This record gives sequence, C-alpha cells and structure tokens, in this order.
Amino acid sequence: MSTNAKETALRRQKQLLSHLKGESAETDPKEQIKQVAVYGAGIMGGGIAQVVAQAGYKVTLWDIQQSDIDRGMQTIRNSLERLSKKQEIDPTSVLRRISTTTSQIQAAHAADLVIEAIVEDLKTKQQLLERLDKVAKPSCIFATNTSSLLVRDIAKTVSGARKARTVALHFFNPVAIMQLVEIANADGALLDLLKAFVRDIGKVPVVCRDTPGFIVNRLLVPYNNEARQMVERGDASIEDVDTAMRLGAGYPMGPFELMDMTGIDVGYHIMKGWYEGASGLQGDPRFKPSKEVEQMIKKNHLGHKTGRGYYTYTK
Ligand code: CAA
Repeated sequence: MSTNAKETALRRQKQLLSHLKGESAETDPKEQIKQVAVYGAGIMGGGIAQVVAQAGYKVTLWDIQQSDIDRGMQTIRNSLERLSKKQEIDPTSVLRRISTTTSQIQAAHAADLVIEAIVEDLKTKQQLLERLDKVAKPSCIFATNTSSLLVRDIAKTVSGARKARTVALHFFNPVAIMQLVEIANADGALLDLLKAFVRDIGKVPVVCRDTPGFIVNRLLVPYNNEARQMVERGDASIEDVDTAMRLGAGYPMGPFELMDMTGIDVGYHIMKGWYEGASGLQGDPRFKPSKEVEQMIKKNHLGHKTGRGYYTYTK
C-alpha cells in the first residue's frame, strides 16, 4: 500500500472509531483544505510546513530568498530524521509533499489555507496579507502565527469577506514536538473546521479571544521577564533559576533556557510592542524594555540561533 493510501485508510479508521465511541462526527478537514501555503521558512514556518505535510496535506513553503528556504528545508530534513527513529514516518514522502517558492503569488493562488509565520512586525504582516488577498481564492482561510499581535489588526488590510476568514493558528517551538495550537478570531463552522484541522495534524486545539499573547505567551512573557529581573537584582544565578524551575516546578526547561530557544530578540520585540502600544498593556511596567537585553541584541547574543544567549552553544 502506498504511504498516501495508508494515511487515508488510517484517517478513515480514526473517523470510524470515534463514530463507534459515540463521539460527534467531526468535519473531515481534508475535504475543504487540500493545499496549504506557509509563509516564512524560519523555525516556526518550517516546523508548521513539516507537521502539515506529515499529516498528508500538500504544502507550498515560501520565503524571500532561496537561501532561507534551503536552510528551512535542511531543518525539516533533520527533524524528520530524528522523528523517523521513533515514529512510523517516511521522510521521503513527507518531503515530496512540500514544494517551495520565492513567489508570493504562486504560493497563494491554489491555497485553501494560508499560514503566515513571517517577521513579527504589524506592517510587514499587513502588507503580505493585502497582497495575498488579491490572488487567493475567496474561500481561502488566512491564518497568522503571530505570537503577540492582534488578528484584527493584522487583518485590517484585507477585504471585508476575508476578514471573516482571517484567524490565528498559533504554534509552539519546537513545532514538531509541541502539541498545542491556539486558535483565535474564529467561530461557527470555521472554528469547527480549524479544530478538526489542528487535530488532523496531530495537535490539540485551544480557543481564546483575540487578545495580546493569547494564552501561553500572555503567561510566559511576564514569567520570563520576572526571571530576568530576579537575576539582574542579584537574587539568584541564571543556572540556579533554571534548575529551580525544572526541579521545583517540573517545567521541561528553565526560563533562561527557554528564552535562548525562542530567541532573545523575539521576547524583546513582543514586550516592546506591548509596552508601546498594545491595548490594555501600554506602559505596563512588567513589559518595560530592558537595557541589558538591548545590549545582548546589539552583540547578536540572541540564543541558540546565534550560538550565544544566556548560555553558549556549540553545534
Ligand atoms: N524535531 C524532532 N524531534 C525533536 C525536535 C525537533 N525539532 N526537538 C526535540 N526533538 C525530540 C528529541 O529528538 C528527543 O527525542 P527522544 O526523546 O526520542 O530522544 C525529544 O524530542 C526530547 O528532546 P531532547 O532530549 O533534546 O530535550 P528535552 O527532553 O529537554 O525536550 C523540548 C526538548 C521538547 C524542547 C522540551 O525541553 C520542552 O518542552 N521545552 C519547553 C518548550 C516550550 O515551552 N516551548 C514553547 C515556547 S513559546 C513559543 O514557542 C511561542 C512563541 O510565540 C514564541
């Protein structure tokens, strides 16, 4: 049996099982979503393209430069290699479902679902969606993987009809491993479809209002910031704070390990954006940009991705 046929048979089996268990019949997302376009081949975009392709969807991965795409595809290959050691995954057939392009329009026009995971900058995201709105099918859903902005702000540049189909699908790093996807700005049949899609790609959906940071980042960002301030005050060392949270609270990583993994610049820009303008958070001292972190960014100490953050990393 081909891998595709195996996946279809598995999907049918799952539907039959949930029917036999008396669970309400769920929308089959593959009836409405056949082609997915992912914008941004970085850690998040690449990870999203990977898990969507793993679930049997055809994906087009876009980025500005071919070198960004090559780096993203190499990360996907490495991740699939790791996963194939413990799961029944055929990296070749997953990779075959991912095509790549540097043409924004080409990626969008056959897509049923667009997921943008580009730079966390409101204007850049608005410009991208405005362009895609003109070429994408009217039925195409626009999803943003924003970690801190409001969906309704990002959707300001799209048509009225598309606004009603612009949502958040917020994934977590590392996407291949983390099980959660937050959904915001969707209701009714669209929400049902998105929940079914998230489950179909092997993740667990949670739903929340369109608010800055949704659930996870709204809690994680002040937590990380408080850890940083604790060390700046000299209350404890970086290593001891990380050990304390791993062993005392059962977290898989301490806050400094986590900030290094997600990117020092990423956390900084989230806080700066909230401090300078997010509704309800503007001027909130919990999110005041830190001079120490600005220095780290100037020195390119951004965490894992540059080999140095709060810790030093060798490949
Ligand atoms: N692809 C495939 N496999 C991967 C992987 C990847 N990208 N990353 C890790 N793995 C696998 C490893 O191969 C390993 O597999 P085995 O157990 O079979 O050996 C397994 O995952 C565990 O990895 P490690 O042994 O390397 O390390 P670990 O046990 O510490 O787990 C972790 C790593 C999953 C990242 C874990 O530390 C963790 O859950 N950390 C917290 C992550 C977190 O909080 N993420 C959210 C960040 S916030 C965010 O993303 C939102 C935003 O908007 C910025």
